[in-house]
Amino acid sequence: MSQTTTEKPTTSLVSVEIMGKPQRVPHGITVLQAMWYSGHELIRGVGCLGGTCGACGIVYRTKDNFELRNGLGCQTLVQDGMSFSMIPHFAPARASYQMAELADPKEALFELYPEAARCVNCNACNRVCPQGIDVRGSVWCAVFGNFDQVAELTMSCNSCGLCVVRCPADMAPNLIALYARRAHGVHELKPPKRVTDRIAEINAGSYGTEWTKLQKMGDQELAKYCTDYPKPSAVK
Ligand code: SF4
Ligand code: SF4
Ligand code: FES
Repeated sequence: MSQTTTEKPTTSLVSVEIMGKPQRVPHGITVLQAMWYSGHELIRGVGCLGGTCGACGIVYRTKDNFELRNGLGCQTLVQDGMSFSMIPHFAPARASYQMAELADPKEALFELYPEAARCVNCNACNRVCPQGIDVRGSVWCAVFGNFDQVAELTMSCNSCGLCVVRCPADMAPNLIALYARRAHGVHELKPPKRVTDRIAEINAGSYGTEWTKLQKMGDQELAKYCTDYPKPSAVK
């Protein structure tokens, strides 16, 4: 859902329940705006307000629907009869590793995240993901060592953690995907040619004179260097 959070609320009010307390809030505002409107001081759970940082996970129910749902508070509009709460930090099992030092990251996945193999294909993660990611598919790709596919599938993950909240196998699919993306980047992807070329030039001393000159400059000269540097718009 796309919407701007700067829209002026309409004057009509709707009845909602915020963390169990009845409130009247303007129709057309988001859950986060409704919390501010009703006096909640949000210290945690607010970031970009644009649906990309994943900080504002909520749980909610709407009127006449028994289904307990999750979403992003900055992207979910209030409805009359809605009940919602912010989700506190959900402690996922977070493995610690030095990716570059792992000899076989495909095997290491099962030591670091053994729960990855416990997926029961319930699809709860796919239903909850606000980014529309095939989370279940990404977990299976990771299990089969197809880290490049995990990277493709999960590039837009904002780490909101809503899949963690819902997974009955107690796994954190987002952290497993992060592991797979890192493994892909460190162990599988070749660095772009322009990067390897530049590193070779540096190692061959091609920029040695300029570097030595920069190292000898005082703060004032360096500052002048930065000020006088042509602005990007002036560079042809
Ligand atoms: S994969 Fe999980 S953490 Fe990432 S955006 Fe989807 S629900 Fe959020
Ligand atoms: S919620 Fe967990 S168990 Fe269910 S499909 Fe997703 S990863 Fe598998
Ligand atoms: S505040 Fe960043 S996604 Fe909602």
